[in-house]
Amino acid sequence: MAVGIPRRVNPPQPQQTDNILRSGFRLEYPGKKHPIEILSTPAGQYQASSTHCGGDNRLYHADNLGVLAALANDKAVAGKVRLVYIDPPFATDSAFESRQQQHAYDDHLTGSLFVETLRERLILIHRLLADDGSLYLHLDGRMVFHLRLILDEIFGEKNFRNCITRKKCNPKNYTRKTYGNTADYILFYTKTDQYAWNRAVEPWDEARVMKEYPCVDDKGRRYKKVPIHAPGVRNGETGKLWRDMLPPPGKHWQYTPIRLDEMDARGEIYWSPTGNPRRKVYLENSAGIPVQDIWLDMKDAHNQNIHITGYPTEKNPDMLERIIEASSNPGDLVLDCYAGSGTTLASAASLGRRWIGVDRSDEAIKTMLRRFEVGTERMGDFVNTPSNTHTLPLFTTSNTDFTLFVEKK
Ligand SMILES: C[S@@+](CC[C@H](N)C(=O)[O-])C[C@H]1O[C@@H](n2cnc3c(N)ncnc32)[C@H](O)[C@@H]1O
Repeated sequence: MAVGIPRRVNPPQPQQTDNILRSGFRLEYPGKKHPIEILSTPAGQYQASSTHCGGDNRLYHADNLGVLAALANDKAVAGKVRLVYIDPPFATDSAFESRQQQHAYDDHLTGSLFVETLRERLILIHRLLADDGSLYLHLDGRMVFHLRLILDEIFGEKNFRNCITRKKCNPKNYTRKTYGNTADYILFYTKTDQYAWNRAVEPWDEARVMKEYPCVDDKGRRYKKVPIHAPGVRNGETGKLWRDMLPPPGKHWQYTPIRLDEMDARGEIYWSPTGNPRRKVYLENSAGIPVQDIWLDMKDAHNQNIHITGYPTEKNPDMLERIIEASSNPGDLVLDCYAGSGTTLASAASLGRRWIGVDRSDEAIKTMLRRFEVGTERMGDFVNTPSNTHTLPLFTTSNTDFTLFVEKK
């Protein structure tokens, strides 16, 4: 695998910075508003419903633009949201129904109207995020590249962290003359370069341990051997002789000669029969296999034993748990303003986070209220016979206290 050598250049002078900004890419389209106009969006007016008035978590039954504008003036929320996950409509030009064939939501905005509608929300979301906060925006191949440019404008290119490719479903038996469409994408941005981060790992399995940690030391500890040099020439200590050896051409030692001596004294350096040093990396020091940016293990409901609400496009709760655990800590505030069936909110609650959810669809709110009360239901099959109706076991997510806000009359 080729590894690029980071280029070391002098920091840009003010004049150069202007040029860099000017040469940055922008997505231009008719009707693109100035950010100041968006930040002056009138705040919506909401009141707590008498039916669900139970706690600090908030569920808004309203269009999210007015809610985000209201939250931007709310001292308890503005600048305090640690994590936003959103899964908006994907510009499919379709209408979505629940499994019970109830109309859930329309997805008819396309092109620049779709982009600008989402951009308005993203500018307000940026305002709500804490300085160490993160945004995950879930889209598919239709609009992800347009929104990448928009998010670079709002968050800054340097705060782009990943474009995660997720396998959303099993292979399709396609009749179209294209490759099967099984991927969607999650753009991950942070507000600054100091952000909440708990590295996600998967547990080791026997086969991978044997492959990746093939060596065993005299105490029975498994390890692998890795180079002690890295690409790029350095003129300091790490470019100097160690044990009469220079680093290979075009490379430098990963540690100073003093640290390498200390590591060798502790038995952490492996010497090959030809005198080639390598570092021993022990399995016992590994928390697990770090999760990469292709997620094959987070498909949405795909078999009859999986528990769901029946809301269309509902996402896999394991995926939400991965995101929430990686980018927030217990007690943090998590926001999803396209909440749908409430997957983000239920996952946040079960992980001890506080939450704010928004959806304007009656069916979404009905689904979330049921989910918070009784949980999700085994998917089963589509046939409702007297023997399987009402008898499928319910899987109860952790109860969560919340207050439902509705628009003021
Ligand atoms: C793809 S679904 C979200 C599914 C969700 N992630 C889940 O796991 O169930 C998108 C949701 O956004 C909601 N929505 C779309 N535009 C909205 C808006 N302007 N304000 C509030 N909700 C909106 C729709 O009603 C729909 O429930």
